[in-house]
Amino acid sequence: MKIASIRVRFLVSFTAIFIISLILLVFGVLVSMVAIAGDVTSASQFYTHYFAQKPLSAQEENLYLDLKYMAKKQPLLLEQQQVWMNLEKKRLASLKMGLVVRKENRVLYQSPSLKDKQLAQALPPYEPANLKVRDTLEINGQYYSFVKFDYDCPDQAEGSLYLLKKVNPFTELVRKSLPLFLIVLLILFVGSNGYIYYLVSRSVIRPLLRLEQAANRIKEGELDFHVRPVSHDEIGKVACAFEEMRSKLKDSVEQQGQIEQSRKEMISSISHDLKTPITSIIGYVEGIRDGVANTPDKINQYLMTISAKARYMDHLIDELALFSKLDLKQAPFTFKKIHLQAYLRDYLEERTVDLAKAGFHVRHEWPGTPIWVWADPEKLARVLENVLDNSVKYGDKEEKRLAVIVSGGDDKATIQIEDNGAGIDFPSISRVFERFYRAEPSRSSRTGGSGLGLAIAKQIVEGHGGRIWATSEKGQGTSIFFTLSVAGEQREKSVDH
Ligand SMILES: Nc1ncnc2c1ncn2[C@@H]1O[C@H](COP(=O)(O)OP(=O)(O)OP(=O)(O)O)[C@@H](O)[C@H]1O
Ligand SMILES: [Mg+2]
Repeated sequence: MKIASIRVRFLVSFTAIFIISLILLVFGVLVSMVAIAGDVTSASQFYTHYFAQKPLSAQEENLYLDLKYMAKKQPLLLEQQQVWMNLEKKRLASLKMGLVVRKENRVLYQSPSLKDKQLAQALPPYEPANLKVRDTLEINGQYYSFVKFDYDCPDQAEGSLYLLKKVNPFTELVRKSLPLFLIVLLILFVGSNGYIYYLVSRSVIRPLLRLEQAANRIKEGELDFHVRPVSHDEIGKVACAFEEMRSKLKDSVEQQGQIEQSRKEMISSISHDLKTPITSIIGYVEGIRDGVANTPDKINQYLMTISAKARYMDHLIDELALFSKLDLKQAPFTFKKIHLQAYLRDYLEERTVDLAKAGFHVRHEWPGTPIWVWADPEKLARVLENVLDNSVKYGDKEEKRLAVIVSGGDDKATIQIEDNGAGIDFPSISRVFERFYRAEPSRSSRTGGSGLGLAIAKQIVEGHGGRIWATSEKGQGTSIFFTLSVAGEQREKSVDH
């Protein structure tokens, strides 16, 4: 509907431009005529004067007037050889004109310059009123413009004199076909206007129609195509914007699909992870009830297993709850300015006993000058716990080593936790921060775990505006790196430390 209206608007504006230019042209011609001819009414006579009555130059007009005067006052002079010779020599030759004098049907004189013998016969007959005195005639392809005067001889005979001038056939042709020429010009004008209208409207309307088609395809849910701009103008820009919109929409639809997929996977993982311990709890409870555990020692052993499984479930549910809170951005961060080295030292001290129990030799490496960072101490502890727990869980060497290395930049501090454990193979390394991802295929292995530890660590580090990544060599060990923002004023003491 709108497109049709643009087409109509184009048509209207083109027609308006055409009409206005036509009016201006006519007005301009009229004004010029007034300037040349003196007034508007004489403009109508312009054509008759300049085209119908062939104009004469001032000298030619003089000669014509003299001849007219002679014909009226002394018509006999026009019958004298001497007069003809004189006229020929003194005036006609210089004006390149010819004279014909006719009495009744007899040609008295025909200038030698007018060679054509048929000319005298072709000249118009006597006409006493002298109404049509100027005209053009054509003989054997030669055009002559002439003025004539009809007079009465003293012997009552009808006399006619003609002053003739050869005209260029081309000029005459133009003169004759001027109205036709003007019509052709008008048709060309209209035609070229129409063609320009067609070109302009095509350059605007076609791309618009193409955009409409693209919009319809998008509406139908088809996103696998390209909207290519055909020009660099405004419409081209619209097409570019359209293409950008299509590709963003496609990305977002794909992203949505991925989210949907990962949600499905998450539900399946959660049900699997909860189902396994529940099944074994049920098995052990039934074992006690059915008397399979028939000694107090056995019952105690069963109860210990049930308790461990239940605690594992409790931990799992806690992790899930925390992860989902972080995912929904519902776990508020309380940022404080902390002295990074002091914080890490305190944390490692707290864990000295259990790390030593696990057989770890811990070392740290950090600059002497204090690094102050912005962090939520509790959540940062959770990151360290999840990373260190992994080092403990996946440590498989006789001599277990753990290193905490800190390096400070202008605006970021990087913390590296390095172990010499089992390591992660290459394709898995990029996925260990995904929720529920576990590099080992068996979920019910000795190490247990839900695959949420590093996903939680990632959420927390990103909540701090930092980045977390891992490097590893299978069988050699793993390094987890993460960054924290350095706090501006270094002198100020941390709230906690
Ligand atoms: N230090 C490490 N050494 C070897 N493998 C590691 C290490 N840290 C992580 N991984 C691998 O990355 C996977 C994901 O770790 P993540 O901590 O997220 O899950 P998890 O330890 O399996 O379970 P959870 O921490 O939730 O109990 C682990 O299953 C493990 O295969
Ligand atoms: Mg873990």
